[in-house]
Amino acid sequence: MIYLDYTATTPLNPEVTKTYTKLLNELFANPDSIHKLGLETESLMNKSRQLIADMLHVKYDEVLFTSGASEANNMAIKGVAFQYANRGKHIITSTCEHSSVYETCHQLEKVFGYEITYINVDSYGKLDLEQLNQAIRKDTILVSIMHINNEVGFINPVDQIVKIVREKNPLTKIHIDMVQSLGKVPIDLSQIDLASFSAHKIYGLKGSGILMKKNSCQIVPLISGGQQEFNLRAGTSNVLTNIVLAKTMRLALENLNDKLMKVKQMNHYLRERLILNEGVVINTPLTNGSPYIINVSFVGYKPEVFVHELEKYEIYVSTRSACSTKSNQMSRTLEMMKVDPAIGSSAIRISLSALTSQQELDTFINAVQETMKNLKKQR
Ligand SMILES: Cc1ncc(COP(=O)(O)O)c(C=O)c1O
Repeated sequence: MIYLDYTATTPLNPEVTKTYTKLLNELFANPDSIHKLGLETESLMNKSRQLIADMLHVKYDEVLFTSGASEANNMAIKGVAFQYANRGKHIITSTCEHSSVYETCHQLEKVFGYEITYINVDSYGKLDLEQLNQAIRKDTILVSIMHINNEVGFINPVDQIVKIVREKNPLTKIHIDMVQSLGKVPIDLSQIDLASFSAHKIYGLKGSGILMKKNSCQIVPLISGGQQEFNLRAGTSNVLTNIVLAKTMRLALENLNDKLMKVKQMNHYLRERLILNEGVVINTPLTNGSPYIINVSFVGYKPEVFVHELEKYEIYVSTRSACSTKSNQMSRTLEMMKVDPAIGSSAIRISLSALTSQQELDTFINAVQETMKNLKKQR
């Protein structure tokens, strides 16, 4: 099997599986119970939270365990929106966000009467910083923009976003979806208020994530009724999942630069080989793109058919973000980049890992060439 869909999810790191299965029957006590068993699990969960805080260079109580990044994004955006509604009801995001940000903003607009400004990108995925600058107002309470785009892989300039927002309105909170950056590129949380992370994108468990929220930023909880997560997320803690997240993160951050270098080289190699084929267009910008993602169009071929054809070689890639594969339209991100519909509607997302081998890439390239030969163009 050749798995090239690491942006959708990753296999478990065997070390994570080992720790999880070892502790599964042992660590069942409720960390909020006051007896010895409860105190033991609480202490391990606290230790995990501290280790994660250290790795992210934030404080212990700035790490909130969640069920994943979709929840973390909702918690950040709605939490800030409801908390600071008396200051203003204007929120800024981009047109290319993951659906858990985009649809959340949309819901705030439609159901709760907030005003949302969507910042555009150019054909290279470059965020329109001038539009951002113009959009920030006195009543702007939140700017939520992702770091690395999950469909095309372009990288948004967090430091420049921060500079613009802070200069224009120091009271505006900044939330960054860092799901596709953690464990892949260096990240810096020092200047931002909130950030979202997901464990299953870094070889960890599904249903596990983090919202980093600075103590200087307040949020209204989405789930009330318990003291868990500093009164911000009620419900019995998913204790073992939260405990193994520290190990997951440590392993993902290990040798980050070596992994990045390796993936950069593979990305280069793959791009060079793919582009040799007629009718292949690479949508991920060469500069300013994550080396982990290559969004590529096989013009004239239906992406779903192409993906299923590759399956015959036991090769697994995506048509687009896993959260929107059920919709038949062209990816919103490619549309916003004003990619020609004939190109955009043939797009496939290939995503790499430091686990990917040269041999896998060569087999993939051969399978692509065979597929282009064998499949009839559909439009
Ligand atoms: C950029 C981005 N944000 C958020 C999410 C949602 O993460 P989760 O699956 O943990 O809810 C994803 C997952 O595809 C993503 O790529």
